[in-house]
Amino acid sequence: MRRTFICGNWKMNGSLDETMNLIGGLVPRYQDSFVNVEIAVCPPFTSIALAHSLLSDRGVRIAVGAQNCHDQQKGAYTGEISTRMLVEAGCTYVIVGHSERRAIFSETNEFINKKILAALSNGLKPIVCVGETHEERELQRTFEVLLEQLRGCLRDVTAQQMHQVTIAYEPVWAIGTGKTATPEIAQDSHSFIRSEIEALYGKEVANNVCIQYGGSMNASNAEQLLHQPDIDGGLIGGAALDAESFMTIVRIASQAH
Ligand code: 13P
Repeated sequence: MRRTFICGNWKMNGSLDETMNLIGGLVPRYQDSFVNVEIAVCPPFTSIALAHSLLSDRGVRIAVGAQNCHDQQKGAYTGEISTRMLVEAGCTYVIVGHSERRAIFSETNEFINKKILAALSNGLKPIVCVGETHEERELQRTFEVLLEQLRGCLRDVTAQQMHQVTIAYEPVWAIGTGKTATPEIAQDSHSFIRSEIEALYGKEVANNVCIQYGGSMNASNAEQLLHQPDIDGGLIGGAALDAESFMTIVRIASQAH
């Protein structure tokens, strides 16, 4: 049985006050029946420790992740954060290769690969984002792009390490646009990603790897998406900033699988 994993990517939202309010909204909505769903929230760096302490004080099974990391552990990398620092602050996960980092901060598959290897060797579980732009889809290059991203990002990651890895399929044209991929389009890409993981690592790893969908997922469209055979969860942006919406998606996920 594959993991079902719902993760909130807060992006650059979540001052200390907002973090307190949002976590304060998540905690009472958590139910024991959600135990079959892995849940995490990824606040900005400055709110990670607060989110972690609020959640662990209340004994709620919601983990904390970061939205980025650097591949080096220390030194002259002004403005960067190492994977060990993130673990120390309470992180279990780290999102790597988000399309906003690829587009705005020019991150390459090669650099993302180094971050993934650093995360894995320091006990952080990477959530590896892949996805095509609108233009690439129009040019029918979707699978080619996914292939290049997967191969580049997962270089030197072993089959054993793949148990710690989550893949997030986030079509760039669906992020923050309200234009969710149809369940069929998303399923098509997820199934392609799983087949490529099989080609790289074999059937066992492919069957077990958790592939999240991300891109305008919300409480209204989550059910249809999560019922697709190869969609194992969600990486939620906008809807993760509202406790009611986020926990509704978690409830749907707990019933869908
Ligand atoms: P939205 O859910 O706001 O489209 O963002 C998706 C995303 O980028 C999650 O990483």
